[in-house]
Amino acid sequence: MKFFIDSADVAEIRDLAETGLVDGVTTNPTLIAKSGRRMQDAIAEICSVVSGPVSAEVTATDTATMLAEAKVLSAIAPNVAIKVPLTPDGLKTCRVLSERGVMVNVTLCFAAGQAILAAKAGAAFISPFIGRLDDIGSTGMDLISDIVEIYDQYPHFSTEVLVASVRGPHHVVDAARLGAHIATVPPNVLRQLYAHPLTDKGLAAFLADWEKTGQTILAPNETEAAE
Ligand code: E4P
Repeated sequence: MKFFIDSADVAEIRDLAETGLVDGVTTNPTLIAKSGRRMQDAIAEICSVVSGPVSAEVTATDTATMLAEAKVLSAIAPNVAIKVPLTPDGLKTCRVLSERGVMVNVTLCFAAGQAILAAKAGAAFISPFIGRLDDIGSTGMDLISDIVEIYDQYPHFSTEVLVASVRGPHHVVDAARLGAHIATVPPNVLRQLYAHPLTDKGLAAFLADWEKTGQTILAPNETEAAE
């Protein structure tokens, strides 16, 4: 399973990229607004930190203007994926861009039928928003299950299921169990994935017992060479 970071906060992305676990980044207009940055500057900086796909979302609602915006965003870096909404104009834009070899992320997917349309339009990624479905009393993960099952019936569909609107580690684990290709996770969720109280407790006990032995693995003059 690939991990994308769902953020436009370059400092956070840079920090998490150092783990070697980050395969891409997703942004949206809300995340860009939260960053306080000019969109093109934020995307350029993110693309210099992460070599995988970095989604930049169009803000127009008609195909002609979406295509014009996509041209500007694609020029920022070769790893920019153009994010379009799941609307008739968004999917027309997706079709045109995909035929030009541009990666397209179709966003705001809330139904399996929408995901079929995105695959037929040549999307590189479909973004089902599971947290927002949970928020209204539906079970977002059922949508992931449906889309994975449907796409599996059509091996010529190359669209990857990019699980979005992730609220916690349980979403990541459940999506992985279903075989979703990617989860885009807010920085705090990626950090939460590391955490277990028994890991902390076990490490503290190991270190306390080690301290009692008076041993060190590295000789004092070896510390510098190891860094
Ligand atoms: C990612 O591409 C989406 O824009 C994002 O996951 C939406 O998450 P939210 O529902 O927490 O805003």
